Amino acid sequence: MIREFHHISLRDRNSFGVDQQAARLVEFENPDDLRALFAHGVPPRWMVLSGGNNILFTQDYDGLLVTPVARQISLLSEQGDTVRVRAEAGVEWDDLVEWAVERGLWGLENLSLIPGRAGAAPVQNIGAYGAEAADTIRRVEMFCVENGSMLTLDAAHCAFGYRESVFKHTLRGRVIITAIELELSRTPRPRLAYGDVEREVEARGGASLRNIREAICAIRRAKLPDPAVLGNAGSFFKNPVVEASVAGKLLEQYPDMPHYPAPEGRVKLAAGWLIDRAGLKGHREGAVGVHERQALVLVNYGGATGGEVIAFARKVQQTVCDKFGIRIDTEVNLL
Ligand code: EPU
Repeated sequence: MIREFHHISLRDRNSFGVDQQAARLVEFENPDDLRALFAHGVPPRWMVLSGGNNILFTQDYDGLLVTPVARQISLLSEQGDTVRVRAEAGVEWDDLVEWAVERGLWGLENLSLIPGRAGAAPVQNIGAYGAEAADTIRRVEMFCVENGSMLTLDAAHCAFGYRESVFKHTLRGRVIITAIELELSRTPRPRLAYGDVEREVEARGGASLRNIREAICAIRRAKLPDPAVLGNAGSFFKNPVVEASVAGKLLEQYPDMPHYPAPEGRVKLAAGWLIDRAGLKGHREGAVGVHERQALVLVNYGGATGGEVIAFARKVQQTVCDKFGIRIDTEVNLL
Protein backbone atom coordinates (compact mmCIF):
# COMPACT_ATOMS: atom_id res chain seq x y z
CA MET A 1 0.00 0.00 0.00
CA ILE A 2 1.15 3.49 -0.84
CA ARG A 3 1.31 6.44 1.57
CA GLU A 4 1.66 9.78 -0.08
CA PHE A 5 2.79 13.14 1.30
CA HIS A 6 2.98 16.60 -0.28
CA HIS A 7 5.25 19.51 0.70
CA ILE A 8 6.73 17.41 3.44
CA SER A 9 9.61 18.40 5.70
CA LEU A 10 12.57 16.06 5.29
CA ARG A 11 14.09 16.91 8.65
CA ASP A 12 13.26 13.52 10.18
CA ARG A 13 14.06 11.66 6.97
CA ASN A 14 17.73 12.57 6.62
CA SER A 15 20.35 11.78 9.23
CA PHE A 16 21.96 15.20 8.80
CA GLY A 17 18.71 16.60 10.13
CA VAL A 18 18.59 19.45 7.60
CA ASP A 19 15.13 20.95 7.28
CA GLN A 20 14.55 21.01 3.52
CA GLN A 21 11.21 20.12 1.92
CA ALA A 22 10.13 17.69 -0.78
CA ALA A 23 7.28 18.48 -3.15
CA ARG A 24 6.03 14.88 -3.00
CA LEU A 25 7.05 11.72 -1.17
CA VAL A 26 5.60 8.23 -1.61
CA GLU A 27 6.21 5.26 0.67
CA PHE A 28 5.75 1.91 -1.04
CA GLU A 29 5.62 -1.70 0.12
CA ASN A 30 5.73 -3.90 -2.98
CA PRO A 31 6.24 -3.92 -6.76
CA ASP A 32 2.49 -3.51 -7.36
CA ASP A 33 2.64 -0.21 -5.52
CA LEU A 34 5.45 0.90 -7.83
CA ARG A 35 3.56 -0.21 -10.92
CA ALA A 36 0.59 1.84 -9.79
CA LEU A 37 2.82 4.80 -8.98
CA PHE A 38 4.48 4.87 -12.40
CA ALA A 39 1.46 3.65 -14.41
CA HIS A 40 0.84 7.08 -15.88
CA GLY A 41 4.45 7.79 -16.73
CA VAL A 42 7.66 8.66 -14.97
CA PRO A 43 7.81 12.15 -13.44
CA PRO A 44 10.62 14.36 -14.78
CA ARG A 45 12.35 14.45 -11.39
CA TRP A 46 12.31 11.57 -8.97
CA MET A 47 14.66 9.51 -6.82
CA VAL A 48 14.74 6.94 -4.06
CA LEU A 49 15.05 8.26 -0.52
CA SER A 50 15.76 5.31 1.74
CA GLY A 51 16.85 5.94 5.34
CA GLY A 52 18.41 9.25 4.27
CA ASN A 53 21.72 8.30 5.90
CA ASN A 54 24.01 9.13 3.02
CA ILE A 55 22.45 12.22 1.56
CA LEU A 56 22.70 15.95 1.98
CA PHE A 57 19.79 18.05 0.76
CA THR A 58 21.37 21.38 -0.10
CA GLN A 59 17.99 22.79 -1.15
CA ASP A 60 14.31 21.85 -1.32
CA TYR A 61 13.51 18.93 -3.64
CA ASP A 62 10.88 19.78 -6.23
CA GLY A 63 10.34 16.24 -7.50
CA LEU A 64 9.08 12.87 -6.23
CA LEU A 65 10.88 10.92 -3.51
CA VAL A 66 10.18 7.19 -3.32
CA THR A 67 10.77 5.42 0.00
CA PRO A 68 10.72 1.63 0.57
CA VAL A 69 9.07 0.56 3.83
CA ALA A 70 8.70 -3.26 3.52
CA ARG A 71 10.72 -4.88 6.29
CA GLN A 72 10.54 -8.62 6.01
CA ILE A 73 13.58 -10.85 6.48
CA SER A 74 13.23 -14.47 5.34
CA LEU A 75 15.41 -17.53 5.29
CA LEU A 76 15.24 -18.84 1.71
CA SER A 77 17.33 -22.02 1.80
CA GLU A 78 20.00 -23.89 3.67
CA GLN A 79 22.56 -26.14 2.00
CA GLY A 80 25.45 -27.51 4.02
CA ASP A 81 26.74 -24.53 5.94
CA THR A 82 25.45 -22.03 3.41
CA VAL A 83 22.28 -20.11 4.16
CA ARG A 84 20.42 -17.86 1.73
CA VAL A 85 18.55 -14.94 3.25
CA ARG A 86 16.31 -12.32 1.66
CA ALA A 87 15.74 -8.88 3.12
CA GLU A 88 13.23 -6.37 1.81
CA ALA A 89 14.55 -2.93 1.00
CA GLY A 90 13.05 -1.21 4.05
CA VAL A 91 14.74 -3.47 6.63
CA GLU A 92 17.05 -1.50 8.91
CA TRP A 93 20.52 -2.77 8.07
CA ASP A 94 21.47 -3.26 11.70
CA ASP A 95 18.27 -5.26 12.34
CA LEU A 96 19.42 -7.59 9.58
CA VAL A 97 22.87 -7.93 11.17
CA GLU A 98 21.25 -8.71 14.55
CA TRP A 99 18.87 -11.22 12.91
CA ALA A 100 21.85 -13.06 11.40
CA VAL A 101 23.94 -12.99 14.58
CA GLU A 102 21.01 -14.33 16.64
CA ARG A 103 20.75 -17.30 14.27
CA GLY A 104 24.47 -18.06 14.25
CA LEU A 105 24.93 -16.88 10.66
CA TRP A 106 28.34 -15.41 9.75
CA GLY A 107 29.05 -12.70 7.22
CA LEU A 108 27.44 -9.45 8.42
CA GLU A 109 28.85 -9.04 11.93
CA ASN A 110 31.65 -6.61 10.94
CA LEU A 111 29.00 -4.37 9.38
CA SER A 112 27.19 -3.92 12.69
CA LEU A 113 25.60 -0.57 13.46
CA ILE A 114 26.00 0.94 9.99
CA PRO A 115 23.04 3.31 9.70
CA GLY A 116 20.82 2.73 6.69
CA ARG A 117 18.44 0.23 5.14
CA ALA A 118 19.01 -3.04 3.31
CA GLY A 119 17.96 -1.68 -0.09
CA ALA A 120 20.62 1.02 0.06
CA ALA A 121 23.43 -1.34 1.07
CA PRO A 122 24.35 -2.46 -2.47
CA VAL A 123 24.19 1.06 -3.92
CA GLN A 124 27.37 2.28 -2.30
CA ASN A 125 28.50 -1.19 -1.25
CA ILE A 126 28.62 -0.24 2.43
CA GLY A 127 31.79 -1.34 4.15
CA ALA A 128 33.59 -1.22 7.46
CA TYR A 129 36.21 -3.07 9.51
CA GLY A 130 37.51 -5.26 6.71
CA ALA A 131 34.12 -6.30 5.29
CA GLU A 132 31.72 -4.96 2.72
CA ALA A 133 28.18 -5.69 1.60
CA ALA A 134 29.48 -7.21 -1.64
CA ASP A 135 31.04 -10.09 0.37
CA THR A 136 27.57 -11.48 1.07
CA ILE A 137 25.09 -9.95 -1.41
CA ARG A 138 24.35 -12.49 -4.14
CA ARG A 139 21.34 -10.97 -5.91
CA VAL A 140 19.51 -7.68 -6.00
CA GLU A 141 15.81 -7.45 -6.86
CA MET A 142 14.64 -4.27 -8.48
CA PHE A 143 11.77 -2.53 -10.18
CA CYS A 144 12.60 -1.18 -13.59
CA VAL A 145 10.99 2.24 -13.87
CA GLU A 146 11.20 2.46 -17.67
CA ASN A 147 9.08 -0.62 -18.38
CA GLY A 148 7.45 -1.48 -15.06
CA SER A 149 9.02 -4.95 -14.85
CA MET A 150 10.88 -6.66 -12.02
CA LEU A 151 14.49 -7.59 -12.60
CA THR A 152 16.94 -9.66 -10.55
CA LEU A 153 20.62 -8.90 -10.94
CA ASP A 154 23.35 -11.34 -9.91
CA ALA A 155 26.20 -9.88 -7.85
CA ALA A 156 28.58 -10.51 -10.75
CA HIS A 157 26.70 -7.83 -12.69
CA CYS A 158 26.55 -5.31 -9.86
CA ALA A 159 30.09 -3.96 -10.54
CA PHE A 160 30.84 -3.69 -6.84
CA GLY A 161 33.95 -1.73 -5.84
CA TYR A 162 35.04 0.51 -2.97
CA ARG A 163 31.81 2.45 -2.26
CA GLU A 164 30.84 1.70 -5.85
CA SER A 165 28.28 -0.27 -7.84
CA VAL A 166 26.31 -0.25 -11.08
CA PHE A 167 23.45 1.38 -9.14
CA LYS A 168 25.47 4.59 -8.90
CA HIS A 169 26.14 4.60 -12.63
CA THR A 170 24.30 2.78 -15.46
CA LEU A 171 21.25 1.97 -13.35
CA ARG A 172 21.07 5.28 -11.55
CA GLY A 173 17.60 6.78 -11.86
CA ARG A 174 16.33 3.72 -13.72
CA VAL A 175 15.60 1.13 -11.03
CA ILE A 176 14.26 0.92 -7.49
CA ILE A 177 15.80 -1.80 -5.34
CA THR A 178 13.05 -3.78 -3.62
CA ALA A 179 15.03 -6.58 -1.90
CA ILE A 180 18.47 -8.11 -1.55
CA GLU A 181 19.50 -11.73 -1.27
CA LEU A 182 22.51 -12.67 0.81
CA GLU A 183 24.62 -15.75 1.33
CA LEU A 184 25.65 -16.30 4.94
CA SER A 185 27.56 -19.13 6.54
CA ARG A 186 27.20 -21.38 9.58
CA THR A 187 30.96 -21.90 9.59
CA PRO A 188 32.76 -19.32 11.75
CA ARG A 189 34.70 -16.84 9.60
CA PRO A 190 36.03 -14.21 11.98
CA ARG A 191 37.63 -11.17 10.33
CA LEU A 192 39.66 -9.43 13.00
CA ALA A 193 42.56 -7.90 11.10
CA TYR A 194 41.27 -4.30 10.93
CA GLY A 195 42.52 -1.79 13.52
CA ASP A 196 41.46 -2.52 17.09
CA VAL A 197 38.98 -5.27 16.22
CA GLU A 198 41.04 -8.22 17.46
CA ARG A 199 41.90 -6.54 20.77
CA GLU A 200 38.29 -5.56 21.41
CA VAL A 201 37.10 -9.07 20.55
CA GLU A 202 39.69 -10.73 22.81
CA ALA A 203 38.69 -8.38 25.63
CA ARG A 204 35.19 -9.84 25.32
CA GLY A 205 36.39 -13.45 25.54
CA GLY A 206 37.21 -14.46 21.95
CA ALA A 207 35.89 -14.58 18.41
CA SER A 208 32.23 -15.53 18.78
CA LEU A 209 29.69 -13.88 16.50
CA ARG A 210 28.17 -12.00 19.42
CA ASN A 211 31.54 -10.79 20.70
CA ILE A 212 32.53 -9.52 17.26
CA ARG A 213 29.24 -7.68 16.88
CA GLU A 214 29.61 -6.12 20.31
CA ALA A 215 33.24 -5.17 19.68
CA ILE A 216 32.36 -3.47 16.39
CA CYS A 217 29.44 -1.63 18.01
CA ALA A 218 31.73 -0.42 20.80
CA ILE A 219 34.41 0.76 18.35
CA ARG A 220 31.85 2.59 16.25
CA ARG A 221 30.14 4.18 19.26
CA ALA A 222 33.49 5.43 20.54
CA LYS A 223 34.39 7.13 17.23
CA LEU A 224 31.26 7.92 15.30
CA PRO A 225 28.48 10.28 16.37
CA ASP A 226 24.97 8.85 16.73
CA PRO A 227 22.80 10.59 14.10
CA ALA A 228 19.89 10.54 16.57
CA VAL A 229 21.94 12.84 18.81
CA LEU A 230 24.13 14.78 16.38
CA GLY A 231 23.12 15.11 12.73
CA ASN A 232 25.63 13.48 10.37
CA ALA A 233 25.85 11.12 7.41
CA GLY A 234 28.82 8.96 8.43
CA SER A 235 31.91 9.47 6.31
CA PHE A 236 31.30 12.68 4.40
CA PHE A 237 34.31 12.04 2.15
CA LYS A 238 35.68 8.97 0.41
CA ASN A 239 39.20 7.82 1.07
CA PRO A 240 41.16 9.01 -1.98
CA VAL A 241 42.86 6.45 -4.19
CA VAL A 242 46.04 7.86 -5.75
CA GLU A 243 48.94 6.75 -7.96
CA ALA A 244 51.78 5.01 -6.09
CA SER A 245 54.16 7.82 -7.07
CA VAL A 246 51.90 10.42 -5.43
CA ALA A 247 51.64 8.36 -2.24
CA GLY A 248 55.43 7.80 -2.30
CA LYS A 249 56.14 11.54 -2.39
CA LEU A 250 53.75 12.24 0.48
CA LEU A 251 55.25 9.40 2.52
CA GLU A 252 58.70 10.98 2.25
CA GLN A 253 57.26 14.05 3.92
CA TYR A 254 54.80 12.27 6.27
CA PRO A 255 56.24 8.81 7.05
CA ASP A 256 53.41 8.06 9.49
CA MET A 257 50.67 8.64 6.88
CA PRO A 258 48.24 5.66 6.78
CA HIS A 259 48.14 4.03 3.34
CA TYR A 260 46.63 0.82 2.00
CA PRO A 261 47.08 -1.13 -1.23
CA ALA A 262 44.29 -0.54 -3.77
CA PRO A 263 43.53 -2.26 -7.11
CA GLU A 264 45.83 -1.67 -10.12
CA GLY A 265 48.90 -0.82 -8.02
CA ARG A 266 47.29 2.33 -6.68
CA VAL A 267 47.26 3.40 -3.03
CA LYS A 268 44.31 4.31 -0.81
CA LEU A 269 44.91 7.16 1.66
CA ALA A 270 42.86 7.97 4.76
CA ALA A 271 40.83 11.14 4.20
CA GLY A 272 40.23 11.31 7.96
CA TRP A 273 43.97 11.48 8.57
CA LEU A 274 44.46 14.14 5.87
CA ILE A 275 41.70 16.34 7.36
CA ASP A 276 43.02 15.71 10.86
CA ARG A 277 46.58 16.62 9.84
CA ALA A 278 45.33 19.70 8.07
CA GLY A 279 44.29 20.84 11.56
CA LEU A 280 40.55 20.61 11.01
CA LYS A 281 39.50 17.88 13.45
CA GLY A 282 36.94 19.42 15.81
CA HIS A 283 36.93 22.66 13.77
CA ARG A 284 33.52 24.31 13.84
CA GLU A 285 31.91 27.19 11.98
CA GLY A 286 28.45 28.09 13.24
CA ALA A 287 26.25 25.02 13.28
CA VAL A 288 28.58 22.83 11.17
CA GLY A 289 31.80 21.13 12.16
CA VAL A 290 34.32 18.35 11.67
CA HIS A 291 33.58 15.70 14.28
CA GLU A 292 36.04 15.76 17.15
CA ARG A 293 36.69 11.99 17.21
CA GLN A 294 36.59 11.13 13.48
CA ALA A 295 37.61 13.81 11.01
CA LEU A 296 35.89 12.07 8.10
CA VAL A 297 32.50 12.94 9.56
CA LEU A 298 30.87 16.37 9.29
CA VAL A 299 28.23 17.15 11.88
CA ASN A 300 25.22 19.43 12.20
CA TYR A 301 25.25 20.84 15.72
CA GLY A 302 21.64 21.87 15.21
CA GLY A 303 19.84 24.05 12.72
CA ALA A 304 22.43 23.95 9.93
CA THR A 305 21.02 24.23 6.42
CA GLY A 306 22.22 21.95 3.65
CA GLY A 307 23.81 24.98 2.00
CA GLU A 308 25.88 25.71 5.12
CA VAL A 309 27.06 22.11 5.32
CA ILE A 310 28.17 22.02 1.70
CA ALA A 311 29.93 25.40 1.95
CA PHE A 312 31.83 24.08 4.98
CA ALA A 313 32.66 20.83 3.15
CA ARG A 314 34.12 22.78 0.21
CA LYS A 315 36.42 24.62 2.64
CA VAL A 316 37.60 21.30 4.10
CA GLN A 317 38.32 19.99 0.60
CA GLN A 318 40.23 23.16 -0.29
CA THR A 319 42.32 23.09 2.91
CA VAL A 320 43.30 19.46 2.32
CA CYS A 321 44.12 20.20 -1.31
CA ASP A 322 46.27 23.21 -0.37
CA LYS A 323 48.23 21.21 2.20
CA PHE A 324 48.63 17.84 0.50
CA GLY A 325 47.73 18.41 -3.15
CA ILE A 326 45.06 15.71 -2.81
CA ARG A 327 41.44 16.11 -3.84
CA ILE A 328 38.99 14.37 -1.53
CA ASP A 329 35.62 13.63 -3.07
CA THR A 330 32.34 13.52 -1.21
CA GLU A 331 30.95 10.13 -0.30
CA VAL A 332 27.59 11.55 0.64
CA ASN A 333 25.10 12.13 -2.19
CA LEU A 334 24.50 15.82 -2.74
CA LEU A 335 21.17 17.14 -3.92
N1 EPU B 1 42.53 8.87 11.13
C1 EPU B 1 43.08 9.97 11.75
N2 EPU B 1 42.22 10.94 12.19
C2 EPU B 1 40.88 10.85 12.07
C3 EPU B 1 40.31 9.73 11.42
C4 EPU B 1 41.17 8.74 10.95
O1 EPU B 1 44.30 10.08 11.88
O2 EPU B 1 40.20 11.77 12.51
C5 EPU B 1 43.42 7.78 10.69
C6 EPU B 1 43.25 6.57 11.61
O3 EPU B 1 44.08 6.63 12.72
C7 EPU B 1 43.63 5.42 10.69
C8 EPU B 1 43.15 5.90 9.33
O4 EPU B 1 43.03 7.33 9.41
O5 EPU B 1 45.01 5.25 10.65
C9 EPU B 1 41.84 5.28 8.92
O6 EPU B 1 40.85 5.59 9.89
P1 EPU B 1 39.65 4.59 10.30
O7 EPU B 1 40.17 3.21 10.50
O8 EPU B 1 38.88 5.22 11.39
O9 EPU B 1 38.79 4.48 8.98
P2 EPU B 1 38.40 5.53 7.90
O10 EPU B 1 39.19 5.29 6.67
O11 EPU B 1 38.49 6.88 8.51
C10 EPU B 1 36.59 3.98 6.85
C11 EPU B 1 35.17 4.08 6.36
C12 EPU B 1 34.19 4.09 7.53
C13 EPU B 1 34.38 2.82 8.32
C14 EPU B 1 35.84 2.74 8.78
C15 EPU B 1 36.15 1.42 9.46
C16 EPU B 1 35.27 5.30 4.27
C17 EPU B 1 34.98 6.58 3.56
N3 EPU B 1 35.02 5.28 5.57
O12 EPU B 1 36.86 5.15 7.61
O13 EPU B 1 32.88 4.10 6.97
O14 EPU B 1 33.52 2.77 9.44
O15 EPU B 1 36.72 2.80 7.63
O16 EPU B 1 36.19 0.41 8.53
O17 EPU B 1 35.71 4.35 3.63
C18 EPU B 1 31.04 5.42 6.33
O18 EPU B 1 31.24 5.03 5.18
O19 EPU B 1 30.10 6.22 6.60
C19 EPU B 1 31.94 5.02 7.39
C20 EPU B 1 31.86 5.50 8.62
